[in-house]
Amino acid sequence: MTNSHIVIDEITKSYGETTIIAPTSLRVDRGEFVSVLGPSGSGKSTILNMIAGLSFPTSGALFARGEKITGPGPDRGMVFQHHALLPWMTARGNIEFGLQSARPELDKDARRARAEEYLGHVGLTHAADRRPARLSGGMQQRVGLARSFAIDPDILLLDEPFGALDALTRRQLQLLLLEIWEANRRTVVMVTHDVDEAILLSDRIVVMSAGPEATIIEDLTVDMGRPREGTGADELRAHLLGLLS
Ligand SMILES: Nc1ncnc2c1ncn2[C@@H]1O[C@H](COP(=O)(O)OP(=O)(O)O)[C@@H](O)[C@H]1O
Ligand SMILES: [Mg+2]
Repeated sequence: MTNSHIVIDEITKSYGETTIIAPTSLRVDRGEFVSVLGPSGSGKSTILNMIAGLSFPTSGALFARGEKITGPGPDRGMVFQHHALLPWMTARGNIEFGLQSARPELDKDARRARAEEYLGHVGLTHAADRRPARLSGGMQQRVGLARSFAIDPDILLLDEPFGALDALTRRQLQLLLLEIWEANRRTVVMVTHDVDEAILLSDRIVVMSAGPEATIIEDLTVDMGRPREGTGADELRAHLLGLLS
């Protein structure tokens, strides 16, 4: 158990009489990029929230670095589909504010330098002084990603982070995520409904069955070198689409 970075051990989740997640286990190694695919309502976000320590299983337990997860922690950072940026703060200010709570060892100058660095990574140096109301949806999403990437948590949890974006922005940010992941090799668990996104990015893809009583029905290692754009994944794609239909 101690070798895995994240261990999900026979968890279930019920709301009242309804068991939404039937006994489910998963281990994620340090530095692994795992995608979770599954139909809407299969409990993907619930599982991610449990890893984040924002929700708790009805039975079973979750561990990060061998320690039972009992609440949120700075080792685990979450990126949601819609970023809650603080509207009265600039893009730079939002990133600095995130660092202030999650990385208290950094002083003001270090926070500023880091915020500027990550604004550069997401191509928003020119918009550093703008408030969210003056940023497009895609730009706001970039600021949110920059905020999470700047914190650089040990475990990055992504809940359909690109779901609300246009195709071009989506592809740019997928490649940015890949670049940052390849540089830092953090542990990533990403929920997505996009088979191609899962194939493009992950070392492993786990598939959930439809709820209620959803569980993991497939756990595939993606045995392909990167970059993965283009051909070569047709069988894998067809297999995954078959499981999801
Ligand atoms: N607080 C809650 N109370 C009751 N049911 C809930 C609650 N949160 C989620 N659910 C139900 O749990 C199931 C799984 O939800 P969710 O994890 O959001 O699925 P997914 O992310 O895979 O779409 C859904 O059927 C949802 O309606
Ligand atoms: Mg969800």
